[in-house]
Amino acid sequence: MSTNATPLDRSRRPRSGPRRMLLAGALGVLGTITALAMSVPAGAAASTLGAAAAQSGRYFGTAISAGKLGDSAYTTIANREFNMVTPENEMKIDATEPQQGQFNFTNGDRVYNWAVQNGKQVRGHTLAWHSQQPGWMQSLSGSALRQAMINHINGVMAHYKGKLAYWDVVNEAFDDSNGGRRQSNLQATGNDWIEVAFRTARAADPSVKLCYNDYNIDNWTWAKTQGVYNMVKDFKSRGVPIDCVGLQGHFNSGSAYNSNFRTTISSFAALGVDVAITELDIQGASATTYANVVNDCLAVPRCVGITVWGVRDSDSWRSGDTPLLFDGNGNKKAAYTSVLNALNAAGPNPSPTPTPTPTPTPTPTPTPTPTPSPVPGACSATIETVNSWQGGFQSTVTVRAGSSPVNGWTVKWTWPSGQTISSLWNGTQTVSGSTVTVRNAAYNGSIAASSSTTFGFTANGTAATPTATCTSP
Ligand code: G3I
Repeated sequence: MSTNATPLDRSRRPRSGPRRMLLAGALGVLGTITALAMSVPAGAAASTLGAAAAQSGRYFGTAISAGKLGDSAYTTIANREFNMVTPENEMKIDATEPQQGQFNFTNGDRVYNWAVQNGKQVRGHTLAWHSQQPGWMQSLSGSALRQAMINHINGVMAHYKGKLAYWDVVNEAFDDSNGGRRQSNLQATGNDWIEVAFRTARAADPSVKLCYNDYNIDNWTWAKTQGVYNMVKDFKSRGVPIDCVGLQGHFNSGSAYNSNFRTTISSFAALGVDVAITELDIQGASATTYANVVNDCLAVPRCVGITVWGVRDSDSWRSGDTPLLFDGNGNKKAAYTSVLNALNAAGPNPSPTPTPTPTPTPTPTPTPTPTPSPVPGACSATIETVNSWQGGFQSTVTVRAGSSPVNGWTVKWTWPSGQTISSLWNGTQTVSGSTVTVRNAAYNGSIAASSSTTFGFTANGTAATPTATCTSP
């Protein structure tokens, strides 16, 4: 073990007493949400994780490493099973801004392009973090570091503007044991650094969901969980733009799964944010524990998806723990089957339910461009192409409420020249000939007056932006 062990590294050390409960174990990254509408015939069980999760409007993702994209055994499984991708290291600070002011998106783009060209969505990870900072950033402090953080967020988000489903804006900013902030160079710039990061991110790309991501915030009784919960509650009450919380979900003997995980997920969701399990791995890969985690997510409408932190055990940052769903030879493990069965048991997409909004001050929702005029008591929809390549393209659809709130929405359009959707997220689709109808997912049917939500898709064919209609019951 290195001498500069991270808190994650420390989690492997044996501990005793309350500190063991608070310090040991897992990391976590938060995730955001996306529901991919891979089609499954009514009544049939889906045969892949992504398709099974899509039945309830959720996604099932994995961390992807650019260095493994040449491994066909790896890409075959990843492409078949998952519909959300998190670059494992390629969008981190040291990778994207190795020299101050000089951005490098080579490997980030490799992962991004592989994902979207295979019909998958991408979670960006991560913009502001005490770890994996390039040397130049490690040596900064005070206002110079604060400005460097802001410049970094702006530089990276500009490159990926409109292309990602979620960004982990801030990662692992809380102390492992006392429920307060982690000491770091970023924290030393002032306690407001996290909200500055989120406000900067919202301005840089209003279309992407902004997440706080952390580990050891899975157990509802832990001080760290409560610390993050209170920060999110405070942000929502003051209108600091935050859309999602990522529970990393690194479970092991020092940071074991607890059945109060469901309480944690539902409690965060009740604050008015999406919740995702963003870096799931379970030491020993108990099939029962994996099913418990999946069922906990399925029980909460705003738990939008699950990402496992790697494809095969041999790809894991903790390979010795054999914590993933495929063994080193790419064979499905018992945990794979239990996850698939749990996802299939969730059945068809639930009826849209109003999103709980207990916060006194709604988070200001950014205005996408172009901005449709608000229609009183109704909704409008605008399709934008955000990426295209030979034979395919990716679009974001902004659904905007008029002067009254919307509870459930349906967007419809007709393709001009035979385009077909390969995957769709944050909604559920029905296709009839060239006409596409998209209804809200379980968690995004409610839109406050004059606010908006987005869904997205990748499609085959020439990029097109047909006029869409929106109706609300
Ligand atoms: O690519 C270099 C290689 O060229 C070099 O020879 C080798 C020597 O050590 O290092 C390689 O880079 C390593 C990189 O992973 C790619 O394998 C880094 O040393 C190593 O530090 C890095 O570890 C990553 C870790 O974050 C760093 O903090 C893990 O892959 C990655 O899975 C892990 O992911 C984190 C999440 O971002 C946040 N939550 C916890 C999670 C697990 O630690």
